[in-house]
Amino acid sequence: MSKFMEWVDARFPATQMWEDHLSKYYAPKNFNFFYFFGSLALLVLVNQLLTGIWLTMSFTPSAEEAFTSVEYIMRDVEYGWIIRYLHSTGASAFFIVVYLHMFRGLLYGSYQKPRELVWIFGMLIYLCLMAEAFMGYLLPWGQMSYWGAQVIISLFGAIPVIGDDLTQWIRGDYLISGITLNRFFALHVIALPIVLLGLVVLHILALHEVGSNNPDGIEIKKKKDANGKPLDGIPFHPYYTVKDIVGVVVFLFVFCAVVFFFPEMGGYFLEKPNFEQANAFKTPAHIAPVWYFTPFYAILRAVPDKLLGVIAMGAAIAVLFVLPWLDRSPVKSMRYKGWLSKLWLLVFCIAFLALGVLGVLSPTPERTLLSRVCTVLYFAFFILMPFYTRMEKTKPVPERVTG
Ligand code: HEM
Repeated sequence: MSKFMEWVDARFPATQMWEDHLSKYYAPKNFNFFYFFGSLALLVLVNQLLTGIWLTMSFTPSAEEAFTSVEYIMRDVEYGWIIRYLHSTGASAFFIVVYLHMFRGLLYGSYQKPRELVWIFGMLIYLCLMAEAFMGYLLPWGQMSYWGAQVIISLFGAIPVIGDDLTQWIRGDYLISGITLNRFFALHVIALPIVLLGLVVLHILALHEVGSNNPDGIEIKKKKDANGKPLDGIPFHPYYTVKDIVGVVVFLFVFCAVVFFFPEMGGYFLEKPNFEQANAFKTPAHIAPVWYFTPFYAILRAVPDKLLGVIAMGAAIAVLFVLPWLDRSPVKSMRYKGWLSKLWLLVFCIAFLALGVLGVLSPTPERTLLSRVCTVLYFAFFILMPFYTRMEKTKPVPERVTG
């Protein structure tokens, strides 16, 4: 074996890569619950790629046959039902895992210097993931696929001058048709997964260049032993590879419970109107995007003007990109930040979750008012950040990582 590896290493840096990224990659020894979600995101990504490839084998991307080909997968293809449920549940699981992964970043200031690029690549992944989910959702050609896409694509029509041409260019037709379905299929199964995979590689390379943050927000590279190993670091392999298996097992229990017992999740993972084939002449009574988009959808609806609503929705995502430059705190982790940062993070989370719920519900005057309040709070968290992070009194950060 070692002779073989010598032969390989003389031609390709296999051992070097293994050491740099696993056996000699020193990660802080105080990782907690929130550090499971990076590896779980990788697991879900692999699940989506594999089940996606197998779904593609039996799916027909045409307006005439897409809906029935999904029914064929569910009823006639061997194990088709499980492949489809793994993929549809995987889509929601992806967003749950990624939202918790992003929350960890907010909690421990993982976006702060020197990890700005890790965060930016993460945000690009998030954008790509949203595009991937949106396009994938059109493919089963159900009523919600059709009308959801109709609502979102028509938003581009709000852009002055080029709006109408742009929507037509995206659809490839005067209305959403088989042509739109075909191009979304191409993007969903080839283009976006390639971009997503590339971004994930860049995300991890950027992380390994600077090293992982931790719940204390301490740079472990600052305190090294005589051999140059961080005193508060442990090799990723075997310590965290083994620890991550625990997270994977727990995750798979929950994930399989959903796949086998509640694949529709009460209409949140697979929406009820989508069990009916797309019909351009029949608008569903209530159109709402899938749950992971609803916070942004609620922001869109909270603004009375269509163009301003689109701008607000775009700004809600764009502002996350500049987060590393909004946080002026001398400390990273919430553990050592002042009460203002803690309060604002709490307010932000409540506003984001409330917007998520409001985006699912049909609008009433009271709900619209509440959406507006939450939208203001959402943006206030970011806009006021340079001020409250500088004003507040922080706690002293310990020299070495704690528990
Ligand atoms: C396909 C989606 C993603 C995958 C597979 C992924 C993967 C990973 C992995 C494996 C790690 C190292 C383990 C860990 O710290 O949990 C990590 C760290 C990190 N990720 Fe992601 N990630 C994804 C999306 C995102 C997104 C959307 C963001 C934020 C916008 C993000 C921000 C970060 C940050 C800031 C770190 C460093 C955390 C720290 O050291 O404390 N990631 N990611």
